[in-house]
Amino acid sequence: MARYHLTTFGCQMNEHDSERMAGMLESLGYSATEVQDEADLILFNTCSIRETADSRFVAHLGHARRIKRERSDVIVGVGGCWAQSVKDEVFTQFPFVDVAFGPGQVHRLAEFLASDSLTAQGYFEFEGFTGDLPASRNRPFQAWMQISVGCNCRCSYCIVPSTRGREVSRPFEALVEEARGLAAEGVREVTLLGQNVNSYGRDLRPERREFSELLAAIDAVDGIDRIRYTSPHPKDMREDVVRAHAVLPALCEHIHLPLQSGSTPILRAMRRTYDRERYLDRVQLIRSEIPDCALTTDIIVGFPGETEADFEQTLSLVEEVGFDGAFTFIFSPRRGTEAGEITQGLVPHEVKVARMERLVAAVQRGAQKRAQRFVGRTVEVLVEGTSRTDPDRLRGRSRHNKVVNFSGIAAPGMIVPVEITGATSQTLIGEMSLLALAAFG
Ligand code: 5AD
Ligand code: SF4
Repeated sequence: MARYHLTTFGCQMNEHDSERMAGMLESLGYSATEVQDEADLILFNTCSIRETADSRFVAHLGHARRIKRERSDVIVGVGGCWAQSVKDEVFTQFPFVDVAFGPGQVHRLAEFLASDSLTAQGYFEFEGFTGDLPASRNRPFQAWMQISVGCNCRCSYCIVPSTRGREVSRPFEALVEEARGLAAEGVREVTLLGQNVNSYGRDLRPERREFSELLAAIDAVDGIDRIRYTSPHPKDMREDVVRAHAVLPALCEHIHLPLQSGSTPILRAMRRTYDRERYLDRVQLIRSEIPDCALTTDIIVGFPGETEADFEQTLSLVEEVGFDGAFTFIFSPRRGTEAGEITQGLVPHEVKVARMERLVAAVQRGAQKRAQRFVGRTVEVLVEGTSRTDPDRLRGRSRHNKVVNFSGIAAPGMIVPVEITGATSQTLIGEMSLLALAAFG
């Protein structure tokens, strides 16, 4: 039996796409191997969001080249955003690559493998949703659902619109059907994925749909206990979506709302189409509808033209909001993006690093403070497995998306009550509450 080895870089959409690649390969008779040197097909699902993503991947590719030198019949395949972004050069720069394909072309990999093709092939036009392919999921009780692909925004720093193309929504009924099918297979938690999830459905014809309608329809599916989504855009974060969190029992009390910068002039230069006030207004709306909602974000430091005063605007917003967590990034110029071409007002590397450190400290202070509200409470935890640091303890996630390490006995996939006894900025600790478990029924 032929074996494949797959390495995934990048975001949750790539993890989703990799599960579909795996599902497709398994339906072709391939089986997975953990050992790259034993694989007949060495596959990479790549990311190009920042320069570090590119360089990490190119180092991995070097290893594949060495394997290919020793065993020339090995097939090397490269999919995803990096492949798409270098599509014109991939075979000249990396002549040992046999097949390359963009994110909308995963199904072509099957065609290539079945064709005995002797010449290298590249596939880069969007043709179909990877969400339509069979999946090989890592955990039987959690699933990604791809609700749309692509992005119509023009954020000046971002490579995604050029790698994943224009936004296309998957049909509403097909998604509800998929959720029903997943529930029937034992899935309890779904995470809806899209580059801009809350603009879902506006391109659908003959009938436009709203993201909030989709949330309600999936909430109504029996067996789906938790719904999450990532990432929404603040410009599309309207009342109906926020209210859905208050009224839909399965929709979790957590919103990841990417900020990028707290400075209005920088947001304008980033072409985010909202300003500091609008972002704060969305936070206010969320807090008034769902007072206890966890709020996390993405922030970029060192965008070209960012002054100390601009950066302080970001810091003060972080302090004002009090995020439960944040992913922080140093600006990285990307090929083909508007901000990647800027030559004026570049922020020196050491200034970027110093700002990053100050930002991380502010985020952690806020997250640490916010996390204390859980101490003494009993929260619902979806068990994912054993704790990474202590095999005698269990690990899971609360509805607020906090990692919880706790003592108790439960199987992965169970939702159990845990009394929280301690909290750091990143994780909660606690004990499974037998009293509450009895009340759970
Ligand atoms: N440089 C740094 N961070 C970036 N992001 C996207 N593009 C860049 C870039 N060129 C960050 C944004 C986005 C997250 C997924 O990655 O914060 O929300
Ligand atoms: Fe995901 Fe963006 Fe990386 Fe593509 S470039 S894999 S969309 S993070």
